Amino acid sequence: MHARPHSPSPATDDAALAQWVRGLPKAELHLHLEGTVAPETLVSLSRRNDEEPLTLDAAQSLYRYTDFTGFLLAFKAITERLRTPEDYEEITYAMMRGLRAAGVAHAEVYVSVGVVYYWRRIEFEPLFAGMERGRMRGEHDFGVSVLWIFDAVRHFGPEEAARVFRKAAEMQALHSSIVGIGVGGDERRTGAEPFRDLYAEARQAGLHLTAHAGETVGPEGIWSAINIGAERLGHALSAERDDELIEVLAQKQIPLEICITSNVRTGCCVKVEDHPVRNYFDRGLMVTLNSDDPALFGSDLAEEYLLASRVFGFTAEHLRELAGNSVEASLLPPARKLQLLRQIEQYPDFEDRAR
Ligand code: ADE
Ligand code: ZN
Repeated sequence: MHARPHSPSPATDDAALAQWVRGLPKAELHLHLEGTVAPETLVSLSRRNDEEPLTLDAAQSLYRYTDFTGFLLAFKAITERLRTPEDYEEITYAMMRGLRAAGVAHAEVYVSVGVVYYWRRIEFEPLFAGMERGRMRGEHDFGVSVLWIFDAVRHFGPEEAARVFRKAAEMQALHSSIVGIGVGGDERRTGAEPFRDLYAEARQAGLHLTAHAGETVGPEGIWSAINIGAERLGHALSAERDDELIEVLAQKQIPLEICITSNVRTGCCVKVEDHPVRNYFDRGLMVTLNSDDPALFGSDLAEEYLLASRVFGFTAEHLRELAGNSVEASLLPPARKLQLLRQIEQYPDFEDRAR
């Protein structure tokens, strides 16, 4: 992705750039299935499931939060409204329609198996069967591929994470769409260290390892995620404060799943201009852009690319490079990566009429 010269100024023609960005093939590597569910969808699921269905007002109120803790509670409240295999089929299919609209060719999607197990104590397999039906229909209808990452909730502790990761290992034998594990939740309550042995076990089982790291805590949270073997880091917002860590991230080219709008909306980054994404990119880190929970943040992946252009001066050619990074950092087989990288390279240049 380094063959083209970078144009000297940020792209300025907003509507034309938006269209160009939506057409640019790219991968989304940090997306929570439950965080793609719109309030209207919760209402429609509730009409099917509940004697007294949720009103739109009541659904919308679930999405309100004022800080990171409130955001996690909102995420949990939405997840608790997802009940049946049909619900999971419908939200997966709807997610893929949204991905198509943002120009996403491939997505690696977190599913909060930890919430299902810990709060609801229900069997995951039937829900997963619904997800798989949605995935296959979505792949057929929208031409988007999806791989699954089973996410544990770190503040539920290692015992819950063990159930989630072992379930991933067990089910991976039957479903090649399951490719990895991760931990989300509240880093202020626990770092990555307690999960060390479980990460080693998951790796042994052939799963890839990701972790939310340095979202609400300092660089120590990122160091500990790297130390337990995380191959990809979600957010890594606080790496900026530690030059030695930046050196390691650059040297090892550990992919960063950067989520700009998410960090601003949850209050982890106070002002968008303060976000380190451009600093990371300029220092040679392996940056990818992602939307995290688009229904909670009012964004999608195309919007994240446009934000990068508008606020941080990324040029269209930079955005092409970020799209290339997203494919390189994905867990796709090499042949499919090459195919997508070629499509990104062959995608037409952006003609900025305002320049
Ligand atoms: N679950 C869903 N989104 C999350 C985030 N950004 N951080 C931690 N846990 C999450
Ligand atoms: Zn996340």
